[in-house]
Amino acid sequence: MFMHKVTTLNQFIVERQAEIPGATGEFSRLLHHVGIAAKKVHREVNKAGLVDILGRVGTVNVQGENQQKLDVFANATFMDELRASGECCGVATEENEGIVVFDEELCREGKYVACMDPLDGSSNIDANVSVGTIFSIYRRKSAVGECPVESDFLQVGTEQIAAGYVIYGSSTMLVYTAGRGVNGFTLDTSIGEFCLSHPLVQTPARGRIYSINEGNYVNFPVGVKKYIKYCQEIDEEGGRPYTSRYIGSLVADYHRNMLHGGLFLYPETNAYPEGKLRLVYECNPVAFIAEQSGGMATDGTRRVLELVPGSLHQRVPFYAGSREMTRKLMEFLEFFNNI
Ligand code: AHG
Ligand code: MN
Ligand code: MN
Repeated sequence: MFMHKVTTLNQFIVERQAEIPGATGEFSRLLHHVGIAAKKVHREVNKAGLVDILGRVGTVNVQGENQQKLDVFANATFMDELRASGECCGVATEENEGIVVFDEELCREGKYVACMDPLDGSSNIDANVSVGTIFSIYRRKSAVGECPVESDFLQVGTEQIAAGYVIYGSSTMLVYTAGRGVNGFTLDTSIGEFCLSHPLVQTPARGRIYSINEGNYVNFPVGVKKYIKYCQEIDEEGGRPYTSRYIGSLVADYHRNMLHGGLFLYPETNAYPEGKLRLVYECNPVAFIAEQSGGMATDGTRRVLELVPGSLHQRVPFYAGSREMTRKLMEFLEFFNNI
């Protein structure tokens, strides 16, 4: 039986490293440990209905949001693996107010810092709806050998060395970019390896899907309301060119739109006047993926990757996906938000 060539994540990382002159393997080791953490979280997510890992811990995180047991498990798992890599000197995470410094001797030598949303879409866990992990890797600016400082984690998005997400869905996938395209790896549980399944993903320039929580419609900026109505209009042939799809997990909504073509929108609302999604560990990593796969990501006026973070948990309005759809939205925003 002919076995098609399987490229595991680790093989892929080593092959990419060989292409980079002077690469020392440190980043490869870091990414390898991200893969291990993803497999550990996959295992818990997949049995979440069977063991006491569902539901709330009874604590709230820095966002004032009830922490789900899986939030806490995923946070601890990714932190442990990033620390174990010896290449990361600290982490900024949704689940902790301040940065977490890995001050073991080995970690202080780490050249990298990580920002992460350990479990994205956690309100969906109990309903068995897809959730994810989002991560972003920067080279530290502070001196190697010392503890990292907060400014290491507040770098502009264009400084990202790598970014990606894990989607725990009908299958578990790890999708990442290191600045040379976006590649997707599907977990083959029979061998416990992430295997290359989506090489060099390209988002269609336009698609049929728009994703937004229309429950907030009355509070949306006028330009967003007009764009939604534009999507709902009947075209010349009497067809409906667009369809609305919204899961409520950024990773799941974005991933579907990246593959099929579409636009994800999370504008400012009454509940979240700055927008709901966090710049450092949700918008910047997804924006890096979006641009590396031929798409776009904006806060409504500026390129997300050029926003300078002011604080770790800063929220921004977020629009990301197919570039023609993003450009059309921008036309509406510019016209209606300036009248
Ligand atoms: P998290 O679970 O990490 O707090 O993220 C939830 C986010 C994001 O995943 C999703 O797009 C958005 O919240 C959904 O918000 P609404 O429920 O307000 O639509
Ligand atoms: Mn999230
Ligand atoms: Mn989260």
